[in-house]
Amino acid sequence: MSKFEGKVAIVTGAGGGIGRATAKLFAAQGAKVVVADYQADAGQETVDQIAAAGGTASFVACDVSVPEQVAAMVRHAVSTYGELNYAVNNAGIDPEFTPVADWSLDKFDRIMGINVRGVFLCLKEEIAQMQGKGGSIVNVGSFASFAGVPNKPSYSASKHAVLGLTRSAALQYAGEGIRINAVCPGAVRTAILDDNIGSIPADNAEELVAQNHPIGRIATPEEIAETILWVAGSASYMVGHGLIVDGGLAAG
Ligand SMILES: NC(=O)c1ccc[n+]([C@@H]2O[C@H](COP(=O)([O-])OP(=O)(O)OC[C@H]3O[C@@H](n4cnc5c(N)ncnc54)[C@H](O)[C@@H]3O)[C@@H](O)[C@H]2O)c1
Repeated sequence: MSKFEGKVAIVTGAGGGIGRATAKLFAAQGAKVVVADYQADAGQETVDQIAAAGGTASFVACDVSVPEQVAAMVRHAVSTYGELNYAVNNAGIDPEFTPVADWSLDKFDRIMGINVRGVFLCLKEEIAQMQGKGGSIVNVGSFASFAGVPNKPSYSASKHAVLGLTRSAALQYAGEGIRINAVCPGAVRTAILDDNIGSIPADNAEELVAQNHPIGRIATPEEIAETILWVAGSASYMVGHGLIVDGGLAAG
């Protein structure tokens, strides 16, 4: 029997991309999945796909930057399925490339509000629910958790912050049986990446992005989901780690 059978998992940003692939994988392993997203149609579509495959999932509308909605998301997990064993804090945004001097403060605050404040709020509520019972949390960082990215100052800063939150919370709660780690992808074939590629001024932008990764291609969301599932459920001695999954990009 799968170790996820009957367990309860929250996945934020599960209306598409990496989040949807992760929610589907948890459900395929027998977990009951709370699909959280601020886009209701997209989130419901993930639930429908899980149900069609015989899995168990329910949608909760949640903007991770809003404290009351994050608290309600965790309450939904517990009131619907009885407990919370796993959480994947994946919701994030990555706007188009813009030279640093042209960044607006509004845009900076929006990225920080979702990518940093959102992960912080999720950690706060999920940990409070897991205390005394244990659990495992995976935050989704990025290659940009470890490196600066020209024209993406706030995205890179926000993903560095995700790693800081991950490490600090992990140190605090490792002794209470709550493991907290981050999975940090390179380029993954999702809506975010399509937007980014669209803002690169080159005809062969997609090829350039793929070739920038030593493996020579862009990852699928399912490849990242497999890594998240492994970190969440199997990496039992991994604590406070930022696991880079980037086709070799950071190795250079
Ligand atoms: N795609 C990549 O190349 C790549 C690389 C590294 C890291 N990441 C990270 O992976 C995570 C998932 O991105 P993706 O590529 O799957 O993108 P995506 O756009 O396909 O999916 C993101 C999902 O998050 C949801 N979302 C956005 N803001 C939200 C909010 N405030 N509250 C709730 N839901 C919200 C969106 O509605 C969407 O369904 C992000 O944190 C992103 O930074 C992506």
